[in-house]
Amino acid sequence: MLAKWTAKWAVLCALCVPLLPAQEGSMAAAPSGLRCEYLTDPVGIDVPQPRFSWVLEHAARGERQTAYQVLVSLKPDAPAGDQWDSGKAPGGQSVHVVYAGKPVASGQTYYWKVRYWDSADHASPYSATARFETGLLDSADWKGKWIGGANQMRKEFTLAGRPVRARAYVAGVGYYELRFNGRKVGDHVLDPAWTTYDKRVLDTVYDITERLRPGANAVGVMLGEGWFKSRALRMQIHAEMEGGQSVDVATDGSWKTAPGPIQSDSVYNGEVYDARLETAGWDRAGFDDATWKAASVIDGPKGVLSAQMMPPIRVVDTIAPVKMTTTHPGVYIYDLGQNISGVVEMRVRGLRGTRVQLRHAELLYDDGTLNVENLRAAKATDVYILRGDGSLEVYQPRFTYHGFRYVELTGYPGAPKFDTLRAKVVHSDVRPTGGFTSSKQILNQIQRNIVWGIQDNLHSVPTDCNQRDERMGWMADAHLYAETAMLNFDMPAFYTNFLRDIHDVQAADGTVTDTVPHRYGSRPADPAWGMAYPLLTWYMYEYYGDRRILEQHFDGVKAWTDYLRTRSRDGILDYSYYGDWVPIEKTPGNLVSTFCYYWSADLVSRMAGILGKGGEAESYRKQADEIKTAFNAKFLNPATGVYGTGTQTAQILPLFLNMVPGDRRGGVLGSLRDDLVYTRNTHLTTGILGTKYLFPLLTETGNSDLAYELATQTTYPSWGYMVENGATTLWELWQNKTGPSMNSHNHPMFGSLGAWFYNALAGINLDTAKPGFERVVIAPQVVRDLKWAAGSLDTIRGTVASSWSRSDNGLRLEVTIPVGSQAEVRIPELGLEPVTLSESGRAIWKDGKYQSGPAGVTGARESDGTLVVEVGSGKYAFAMASE
Ligand code: BGC
Repeated sequence: MLAKWTAKWAVLCALCVPLLPAQEGSMAAAPSGLRCEYLTDPVGIDVPQPRFSWVLEHAARGERQTAYQVLVSLKPDAPAGDQWDSGKAPGGQSVHVVYAGKPVASGQTYYWKVRYWDSADHASPYSATARFETGLLDSADWKGKWIGGANQMRKEFTLAGRPVRARAYVAGVGYYELRFNGRKVGDHVLDPAWTTYDKRVLDTVYDITERLRPGANAVGVMLGEGWFKSRALRMQIHAEMEGGQSVDVATDGSWKTAPGPIQSDSVYNGEVYDARLETAGWDRAGFDDATWKAASVIDGPKGVLSAQMMPPIRVVDTIAPVKMTTTHPGVYIYDLGQNISGVVEMRVRGLRGTRVQLRHAELLYDDGTLNVENLRAAKATDVYILRGDGSLEVYQPRFTYHGFRYVELTGYPGAPKFDTLRAKVVHSDVRPTGGFTSSKQILNQIQRNIVWGIQDNLHSVPTDCNQRDERMGWMADAHLYAETAMLNFDMPAFYTNFLRDIHDVQAADGTVTDTVPHRYGSRPADPAWGMAYPLLTWYMYEYYGDRRILEQHFDGVKAWTDYLRTRSRDGILDYSYYGDWVPIEKTPGNLVSTFCYYWSADLVSRMAGILGKGGEAESYRKQADEIKTAFNAKFLNPATGVYGTGTQTAQILPLFLNMVPGDRRGGVLGSLRDDLVYTRNTHLTTGILGTKYLFPLLTETGNSDLAYELATQTTYPSWGYMVENGATTLWELWQNKTGPSMNSHNHPMFGSLGAWFYNALAGINLDTAKPGFERVVIAPQVVRDLKWAAGSLDTIRGTVASSWSRSDNGLRLEVTIPVGSQAEVRIPELGLEPVTLSESGRAIWKDGKYQSGPAGVTGARESDGTLVVEVGSGKYAFAMASE
């Protein structure tokens, strides 16, 4: 028994991310993880006062920063602070430290490093040198003109020598591929990010120093239509030469253009590529472009140019099929075993002009053939026409992507093999930041499906789905899976960008739209969709402590809330299009909309409070209170004590936001529980909104066991039901539908559950009063048959981890808290009596009292069957037992 326990414990320990260096007793270590505007060594930023963040490292527990020094310089070696020397700045701030040096200039590389002083005023060594580079900060810096023409553009230029530094600044819409001297530059695909092009186009900066050579050089750009549905290019090259001269090349009417091998390209329909039309050598110097036409200078998209400051879309993985079958002669079906976003790479050899077709789908019919019904109008078909020169041809589409698990290959010359196709996984390359795992297999599979579902849908905007003729930034979907995304991936730059996208669609009357950029749905957005604006702003503050985001979007969020007010009557907001979308049981739209209206006003009040706008904090608090009163008067039935038509969602929403009058709360909660447990036999009837808020509500009200039963349910409707039916991502509907109706099999909105895995099961929670995980609440829910759970998360301050395991005799809990943070660790006593708690073998709770001793532990108390321990930074191993 003991051996088994020890083995399990060893596995658990291995799951925890090591935080502290081994040499116990050494001093403050150099800060690590240096970031500028959330990005590591960004190239091309256009923020005049960028913010710096770093992670503190210290060998001792309970440590913090008492002062820091940042040096910023134009010199790469040993930054000396010629641009900014903060001096020894007192305080604990290690995130979002605002650059306060000389004004930053366009197209400059800055080098920076930082050191800090710990609680004993000992200085750490300096960090390794990081850098950031500005893009073009002023529209006047843009010399290139928008040019149009066919889908290939080229230009040759001559350099007297090898450049010492060279950059390309590129904006190409819908999509572009940049090539210098015969090779692609960089690893972005489907660049730039999709924006409201009339408002903004994003540009990317590439370091091309190594790609240029003395003498003749050539730049070639391929253009795709993407979301812009047309093609336009604006770019410029700046090469600095030895001796101080520079060479500039910018798009203008002297560029040449000609159609290339891509015959058509569409996000939804796929690409047709005729390799016979390749113009070999077109992206190299010396190519004869006499037959090419002059590019025309065009108006181009109306939007301003801004730096793309977010993880680009990349090929992030290559996966091999797990199965290949033949359904009819010449028709081959490949199964990837996973629903992904991406494209296929195909290998083929054959006769010139042979036309090979690839169709993509999420589903198969029972006879093994491809079911494309739920793609609706999206053709999701790529065609490759062979060059046929006897060589092996490798094709991978450039300007499209598909959501698929299955590929149908037809027209292939000869018999394709298993390795004829490989899949390239393509999405915004957000770094995974942690993980959740547990002793319950179904939860682990759901977690896997959630993670795949979310990453498949991060395509520069958070999309609703990845396969059919939609893939829009539907705003409800966006806010519903945002917290889960933030717990699994490094999301702040992505959402900073998306919040600006939302701001870009906001009209003077305060309205925002159902989708951003706005293609589908309405203006004004359904109130539950428009909620993305206040909520994403708020989540950025809670998860990353980003006050600047609050400052930037306060007026916009307020304007949206004020707009809702103009549509309300006596505190009730009647307009609604979707409400608690795709439920089992529908909840009245005006109840959902009024809940959102209340929440918006509440968030404006909170934001105003944080920003020191006392008057607004008060007036929106008053407004929220009035809405709450109206909500209860309208929707709470005094006779039955239930809200609305009695649906689960109608109870969940007001309970979640604490809108229910105190004397009614128990009754409303009781009705909800009865409906979940008895009427529905432990099943949900909720749509996308009710589902998200149900889980934290159940945990907060001491019903984590029920939440766990719902989360691990495997019969309809449940996440487990999706898994049992072969899902590798999340479905749009609770129902298992496969026909032509609306039923995507990769819709991340029900992924809201994933946040509860971290918050409740692993027990990792933030404290809004000290945002950005400066204060952490570790509160694992030890539920039903769950034997252990482990979660870890790279926060902006460093790693937070929590993993626990129980036995008949107690509970073990390992916790990691970053330097500079503090935590309240809440350990359920599990009915053990008398209960003792030790940390790394030393008692901290005994005979009903706190025993001081272990470093980093500053106190413990008992509250409602829970031992509450206060700790500072460090790694702790708690063991709770009965004496
Ligand atoms: C989308 C949803 C979206 C909804 C709005 C659907 O077509 O896929 O996820 O939120 O429309 O009703």
